[in-house]
Amino acid sequence: MLQLDNVTVRFGGLTAVKGVSLAMGDDQLVGLVGPNGAGKTTLFNVISGLVRATTGRVLFDGADILRQPLHKRARLGLGRTFQIPQPMHELTVRENLVVAQRFGAGRVDHGKIDEILEFMDLAHAAERDAAHELALQELKRLEVAKALATEPKLLLLDEVLAGLETSGKRMFMEKLRKLHARYRIGILIIEHDIETISSLCHRVAVLDFGQLIADGTPEEVFNNPDVIRSYTGAGHA
Ligand SMILES: Nc1ncnc2c1ncn2[C@@H]1O[C@H](COP(=O)(O)OP(=O)(O)O)[C@@H](O)[C@H]1O
Ligand SMILES: [Mg+2]
Repeated sequence: MLQLDNVTVRFGGLTAVKGVSLAMGDDQLVGLVGPNGAGKTTLFNVISGLVRATTGRVLFDGADILRQPLHKRARLGLGRTFQIPQPMHELTVRENLVVAQRFGAGRVDHGKIDEILEFMDLAHAAERDAAHELALQELKRLEVAKALATEPKLLLLDEVLAGLETSGKRMFMEKLRKLHARYRIGILIIEHDIETISSLCHRVAVLDFGQLIADGTPEEVFNNPDVIRSYTGAGHA
């Protein structure tokens, strides 16, 4: 359903993504890993529409979406979270979901929002101020809940597990597993931790200095000498 063909992104003299080709199907849970600065978030920005690829093609459900604006891509079913959670200020948790749903689905369905709040364990916090009254875990769950409210077919998760301690991370992973099973949507998740990715994903793609250097099962990928070198090296300075 998602297909990237030879995608390159340049920012002035810097090539952040170099000739990346990657395809993933409807029901997959795929990890995207690589050192800091490898181009992971930029690739998400290209898919969701925040950054225009310099060259290459981005297809979603067979349609070329490279020139589609952000909101059109959301309507087509591309949902995402941000590396730094971005709740809307002055709005409650519930209102954040309403805005996200209107943006992504073009209508408001309070029943569905209640269901998402319940599923993401945020029902108790529904009327809290989203920007100021949430703990880190809740803020991260809200970030995922907002993406779910857009009613995606493919969910892009940018480091939603980063910064959580071990037990919190484990709980969150369980939630993502359930989410994948229950909503039957594709998930592409950026996460640095090898153990986490190996236990969560059947497939992992590795970016290094903007290039896709490996794509396979966690076992294949994390035994690949190029990947080991990339993980033990310093990445971008
Ligand atoms: N909007 C931008 N303008 C200029 N450079 C950018 C921009 N976004 C990202 N970069 C650069 O592109 C490279 C890849 O960044 P990023 O995609 O955020 O990496 P990652 O998410 O893998 O850590 C970095 O060198 C970063 O500084
Ligand atoms: Mg990033």
